[in-house]
Amino acid sequence: STTDTPDGGGADFIVVANRLPVDLERLPDGTERWKHSPGGLVSALEPFLRSHSGAWVGWPGVPDVNVDKFDEDGVWLHPVTLSAEEVRDYYEGFSNATLWPLYHDVVATPVFDRSWWDAYVRVNRRFAEASAQIAAPEAVVWVQDYQLQLVPAMLRELRPDLRIGFFLHIPFPPTELFMQLPWRAEIIRGLLGADLVGFHRPGGAQNYLWLARRLIGLEPSRGAVGVRTRPGVVQVGDRSVRVGAFPISIDASGLDTIARSKETMQRARQVRADLGNPRKIILGVDRLDYTKGIDLRLYALHELLTEGRVDPSEVAMVQLATPSRERVEHYQRMRSEIEQMVSRINGEFARVGRPVVHYLHQSVDRKELAAFFSAADVMLVTPVRDGMNLVCKEYVACRHDLGGALVLSEFAGAAAELTSAFLVNPHDLDGVKNAMHAALTIDPAEGRRRMRALRRQVLTHDVDRWARSFLDALRPSTQEALI
Ligand code: ADP
Ligand code: F6P
Repeated sequence: STTDTPDGGGADFIVVANRLPVDLERLPDGTERWKHSPGGLVSALEPFLRSHSGAWVGWPGVPDVNVDKFDEDGVWLHPVTLSAEEVRDYYEGFSNATLWPLYHDVVATPVFDRSWWDAYVRVNRRFAEASAQIAAPEAVVWVQDYQLQLVPAMLRELRPDLRIGFFLHIPFPPTELFMQLPWRAEIIRGLLGADLVGFHRPGGAQNYLWLARRLIGLEPSRGAVGVRTRPGVVQVGDRSVRVGAFPISIDASGLDTIARSKETMQRARQVRADLGNPRKIILGVDRLDYTKGIDLRLYALHELLTEGRVDPSEVAMVQLATPSRERVEHYQRMRSEIEQMVSRINGEFARVGRPVVHYLHQSVDRKELAAFFSAADVMLVTPVRDGMNLVCKEYVACRHDLGGALVLSEFAGAAAELTSAFLVNPHDLDGVKNAMHAALTIDPAEGRRRMRALRRQVLTHDVDRWARSFLDALRPSTQEALI
């Protein structure tokens, strides 16, 4: 329950994330409106919080806005203001040009800039102070993701009474790569302020435990960390910090309901007709990010068309790409490469009125997305590294008809759960091509068998189960409660 009332009682349950679940949008005519924020974190946490009530501390997505807290669907949103320089140095800089590439296997070269680090420390402190101010005594505060790794320790210092959880939504890197970071010990210490530190995969938890020993000289437990079970433990003074693996998921039944509606099924037929009723529809849905391997799947399609293994009059590919981090250089470069590749494929293989690749640099709403998922015969999810990847789970949740085939990268966290997909190494272009070809020509009975297995996994492991397993593990154990 929330007690974050206008009389200032404070909130019992608080989510702290870089972004609020809604972004302020300034329109050219000077008016403003709120729209849904991009990315997996918001997709996962928003439905959970709406049904459990609480407060959310985050940035409204544009620089220099001062907005009072407001209530949205029963969730109190507490905006944190960032200046234009802070957006540049803390968000675009340290978060997205240092940590993001470093944590995604240095697929782009991380930039280490000392002034960005200073901004990261300053902004993390602001988030910690905002959370300290609104938390009720002994409240549960759940800090999210790589942008806020210093908040747990800062918040603990301000409010030792709180129960603090931290969850990382992106991969935690191999220790050799993490060791490159000039501020590596500070990050490990920042996270140690939490009572529970959560990762998607046991490997991430294991890496973190190793670093706590190596960089801070602590004595973490040595046993293997399980999925949702057997967390590792590090003793920090008189506190024990648990470190575990909690694979995130989606609101599977909500999406299943949307996909089953007449409206969505009608819209899916319309999409197919708009594409010229091709025999097969191929789909990609991503934030436009260089980790997502959008370029790789386009190269693969291009070769399949060139070799005549795919007939351009029989397939249409749709790539939906949400604009993302557009001022960061790596993103600009990737965008031009992808757009060139789309033009090249269409230049060589389209006919007038029948492009082979339909590319939308746009975000679409949930219902429209469900219609695309329902219409797609082959879903391509080919990241070179992804903490989890929710898109593949959303696709599966929409396929109550047991139709469709999923091609999924081994380097997405989701691959550990979705083992009945066509799993590929995205760096192996021939492997990707073969998997795409197999998915396009799959025998319907075999397709249904695979999809049934995928749905069993996704529908029984939804976001509610993820949040419950994390929050249960965050609760003090009976033994601790007695101390
Ligand atoms: P990330 O968090 O890196 O963006 P995820 O796959 O975990 O990746 O989550 C992405 C979320 O954003 C999903 O819920 C997906 O449906 C949504 N999304 C991605 N691209 C689009 C798009 N073009 N239009 C609407 N939603 C999108
Ligand atoms: O889950 C990864 C993540 O980086 C979230 O933290 C973030 O909100 C989302 O993807 C979208 O990115 P951004 O907030 O930078 O637009």
